[in-house]
Parts: sequence; C-alpha cells; structure tokens
Amino acid sequence: MIDPNFPQRLLKHVLENANRGDVDNIINVMDNYCYTVERCIAVGDKKGKILDSCLMGTDPKIALELGTYFGYSALRIARLLGEDGTLYTVEANSAYADVARKIIKFANLEDKIRIIVGQSSDVIPELTKKFQIFHLDFLFIDHWKSCYKPDIFMLEELGFLKDGTVILADNTFDDECQDYVEYVRQSPKYQCTAFQEKDFYTNNDDGMEKSVFKI
Ligand SMILES: C[S@@+](CC[C@H](N)C(=O)[O-])C[C@H]1O[C@@H](n2cnc3c(N)ncnc32)[C@H](O)[C@@H]1O
Repeated sequence: MIDPNFPQRLLKHVLENANRGDVDNIINVMDNYCYTVERCIAVGDKKGKILDSCLMGTDPKIALELGTYFGYSALRIARLLGEDGTLYTVEANSAYADVARKIIKFANLEDKIRIIVGQSSDVIPELTKKFQIFHLDFLFIDHWKSCYKPDIFMLEELGFLKDGTVILADNTFDDECQDYVEYVRQSPKYQCTAFQEKDFYTNNDDGMEKSVFKI
C-alpha cells in the first residue's frame, strides 16, 4: 500500500543530499533513496529510460502528464524539453503536488513545469480555457489505471490529440488498464509499440505502451 507520508520523507532527503539546480543529480539521489531506503511508485530509472527514449526526437512544445506524485517523471520529462517546451502535470492529491512543487523549485525547473491540482477528468475539459492548450505533442499516462481509458477517450473526443501525438502509458501489465491497452491496440487511430521492463525499483516485469495518434 502507498504510504501518504513517503513524498515528504523523499523531499527531506533530496533537500539534504542533492545538488540544487542539478536535475540529473536530483534524479540519481531519488533513485538511490528508492533502491536503498524505501520503494515507491514513481516510474523509476529502468522504465524512465523508455520514457526518455520516447521523448527524444519528438521535441514536444506541449507535454501533458497525468499523475505527478512527487515529480520524479516530471523532472525526467522536463530535462529533455527544448527551450519552448512546457510540461503540464496533473495531480489530484494536493499534498503530493506541494512536494512536487518544492522538488521542481529545487531543480530550477519552475519555468518548464506547470502543476495542475485536480482530478484528470475535471482538468482535461478545462485545458483550453484555463491553460490555452489546444493540442498535445506528448502525453505520459501514469495515474490510476482505471482512469486511463476514460481519459484517453476524453482527450480524443475534445480534439487534444493530433496527428503524431506521442502517448506513453505506464504499468500496462496491470489488470485495471487492460481496457486501455485493448482499445489503443485495436483502434486504427493509434500505432502502438509495447515495451517490457522491470517495475520501479523491483524485479517484477511491467509494461509500457507507446501509441502514436494518427489522423
Ligand atoms: C504512479 S503515481 C505517478 C508517478 C509519477 N508519474 C512518477 O513516475 O514520478 C500516480 C499518481 O497519480 C495520482 N492520481 C491518481 N488518479 C488521478 C487522477 N484521476 N487525476 C489526477 N491524479 C491522479 C495519484 O495521486 C498519484 O500521485
């Protein structure tokens, strides 16, 4: 089960042990903490490399993440964005979002990452009105697994996916998101690639699904 106080402990460790403004060092300090002190549900270093590889070459201007937690994957994504790239990251738990905000500030990435506090199903319909977002270049889906399919539907229906939008979903071996996996694989609108890698800081197999939206 998830310990709600984990992000606070991780934050304390980062502030005490990492180098301010050095994103790669902060990521390494987080990885080491999760390997040696306590595990967590962030994407982690192994699957993080898949995330990095899906971002590289796409040069997204507008990236969206569903599920910030304490900001681990947000840092990974933001460090690979170009000068005009912005990551919007959505987190329902305001205490987690507060921790992520502090970590992002410590990493000097406040200009690149915008945290949106709220449930994805409430935030998505407001993306244009509140944040002037019309289309996504990159989408990382990593919140609760039962939300994957309804949220991709909503993003699709509201026109946020465009030709070439790259979507990466984490934890796709999880039973709860099999409806999502089946949907993107059978739809002619998505060109899919499946990845298999060890789960966050454990030795369990896990999946990630990359889907490129095609019109
Ligand atoms: C697996 S963690 C995200 C890990 C993060 N992407 C990383 O790799 O560092 C899932 C997060 O999604 C948040 N969450 C779950 N359902 C959500 C929803 N419908 N809308 C927004 N956030 C949600 C949870 O509070 C949790 O912090």
